[in-house]
Amino acid sequence: MSVAPSVKRLTSIDIMRRKNGAPIVALTAYQASIAAIADIHADILLVGDSLGMVIYGYDNTLPVTLDMMIAHGQAVVRGSKQALVIVDMPFGTYEESPEAAFRHASRVMRETGCGGIKLEGGASMAATIRYLAERGIPVMAHIGLTPQSVNALGGYKVQGRTRDTWKRFEDDAKAVSEAGAFAVVIEAMAEPLAARITTQIPIPTIGIGASAACDGQIMVTDDMLGMTPRSPKFVRRYTDLAAIAERAVANYAADVRARKFPTSEHTYAMVEAVPMDKITKSYGP
Ligand code: KIV
Repeated sequence: MSVAPSVKRLTSIDIMRRKNGAPIVALTAYQASIAAIADIHADILLVGDSLGMVIYGYDNTLPVTLDMMIAHGQAVVRGSKQALVIVDMPFGTYEESPEAAFRHASRVMRETGCGGIKLEGGASMAATIRYLAERGIPVMAHIGLTPQSVNALGGYKVQGRTRDTWKRFEDDAKAVSEAGAFAVVIEAMAEPLAARITTQIPIPTIGIGASAACDGQIMVTDDMLGMTPRSPKFVRRYTDLAAIAERAVANYAADVRARKFPTSEHTYAMVEAVPMDKITKSYGP
């Protein structure tokens, strides 16, 4: 007899119902250990393609592959129990056609066990979002600053700072919502525009640098833990894990060099006692 898991994982439908409800808490996760910690408090764990920069040290997210996303997606699903796990579609795996997007997204869903995917783009991606959503793939959209388009955008720039640019973003938000996205990430957007979009669409907006007016917030976990060397204005560093880790590594190195680690506490003995001088002698000159 199989036993039902005691914790039920959140679904895209649960998240969609949170529109105008309690703020949605989302964090990135790329590995099982961080996923297990974030899972205790977060509603959504995003296996973001930001892992290309954070984990692999690339300058941007463009070199990230589907295989990388699948491997990290599997780790995050294994490490978590209750949060909805969303995996980013990497650059080049969904833009060509809805069919190509379905082929790649269905592989991500099948091989990771995640609860949905995220892709970047607004009105231009609406047909693809509809195609995926109608075929059982929950889609989180991503508008505003879309990092996979960094070359076309001319850098990581805040969007919607002048009134004449607003219509395009409002149209993007409406298009992804009407196409069937269950939520939309809004990145690096001027507050008044993010607030306006949040009131205009029936699905939750999840902001990153898009103000408290959004229905939820997402943060790159390594940024808020203080693990990344630089972070944008919209990041609050809740701790300085890099400094804590550096101190721990320095202490370990000092202990090894001073032969203070390992001690008997960290050392295995034989079941029957063997005098150490007999052992060491056999290796001697
Ligand atoms: O890749 C990522 O981590 C993201 C978030 C910044 C939303 O897309």
